[in-house]
Amino acid sequence: MLAWPLMRNNIVREDLDSLIEYLKGTDPMLTQSGNVRAFEKEWSEWLGVKHSVFVNSGSSANLITMAALRELRGGGQVIVPTLTWVSDIASVLQCGFDPVFVDIDERTLGMDVDAVLKKITRKTRAVFLTHILGYNALNDRLLKGLKKAGVPLIEDVCESHGATFKGRKLGTFGLVSNFSFYYAHHMSTVEGGVVCTDDAEMYEALRMLRSHGMVREVTSPELKARYQKQHPDLNPEFIFAFPAYNVRSTELNAVLGRTQLKRLDDNNERRTANLKLFLEGLDPKKYRTDFAIEGSCNYAFTLVLKNPDDELMAAVEKTLRDAKVEFRRGTSGGGNQLRQPYLRKIVGKDAWKKFPKVDHVHFYGMYIGNYPDLEHDRIRDLCKLLNGVRV
Ligand SMILES: Cc1ncc(COP(=O)(O)O)c(C=O)c1O
Repeated sequence: MLAWPLMRNNIVREDLDSLIEYLKGTDPMLTQSGNVRAFEKEWSEWLGVKHSVFVNSGSSANLITMAALRELRGGGQVIVPTLTWVSDIASVLQCGFDPVFVDIDERTLGMDVDAVLKKITRKTRAVFLTHILGYNALNDRLLKGLKKAGVPLIEDVCESHGATFKGRKLGTFGLVSNFSFYYAHHMSTVEGGVVCTDDAEMYEALRMLRSHGMVREVTSPELKARYQKQHPDLNPEFIFAFPAYNVRSTELNAVLGRTQLKRLDDNNERRTANLKLFLEGLDPKKYRTDFAIEGSCNYAFTLVLKNPDDELMAAVEKTLRDAKVEFRRGTSGGGNQLRQPYLRKIVGKDAWKKFPKVDHVHFYGMYIGNYPDLEHDRIRDLCKLLNGVRV
């Protein structure tokens, strides 16, 4: 019995103690305040961006990113993956964009770069790419093609904190990037997320969108003064620039984020070594082992059958269940998004048929937890178990 949960020990004693210490202070502020600002600054430094906006989830990060894009650049199409989390597509729909889907690249599980470039038109407002389970989905062809076409890249890095392309952190290549701090990810604030950008205009819009669209959230005195001058009939404290949301987080979540961030690099190193060991240990005749691991930073092992084989998949699932190894079929977000009821009614019930590569992962792929304190012998035992599955 391997008894292997999806995630373990992601919030440790040290994190809880930092919360208790904070709460022991005199009249500690709980709503968004100094710790949120400090965490945003520390996160920006860690990532290498100018601005970060801490929110209450990765999905909220997606939502205000799409809302900012819509407000600042207008409507149109957004190119999205078929393998991603539901909120990556939902945010596109909720902000009134038309999603344009592309199939995956089997080695990165990210979008097929050539398919992305082929789908760019005059209506394209952005490419909203997801780095799946720590694998880098960027390459030079994509970055050059987007630059040439003048189409902004938005990176969803919710599953890939610390992963790199050519030595530079993912989340620093796009106009905006989003991260999640949900419990199961590389680091956690229980629930939480962050939006990052170097673009001053985006930053100000994101700050307002996080907080009811309120102009008083803006950091630029000039921008604030402009709104106030244009609206002399309004109380300067209550000028609402956008029909927005309240997706703020709290001081407590930020306190957790600050202690967690101190351990992130060390934990990531261990997780990266774990993934390498896992992929090296798998039988390449049975499972895909040729993932593009350069620069990858994983928090859950990818297990994908080499060939479509229902019997083998059923046997693998049974073996894992018997050994009490938790897994999620479909890998990220439950597989092919086009098969989901929320999309079928928009794109048609057979639209998924055009995307065979993601469909393979949908039926013959899964992920298994990869956490820092995983012992290497247990990883070897898991590989042995998986390689021994017979039908
Ligand atoms: C790729 C991706 N994007 C966005 C999210 C949403 O993050 P959250 O769960 O913090 O809302 C997730 C969630 O796990 C995700 O995997």
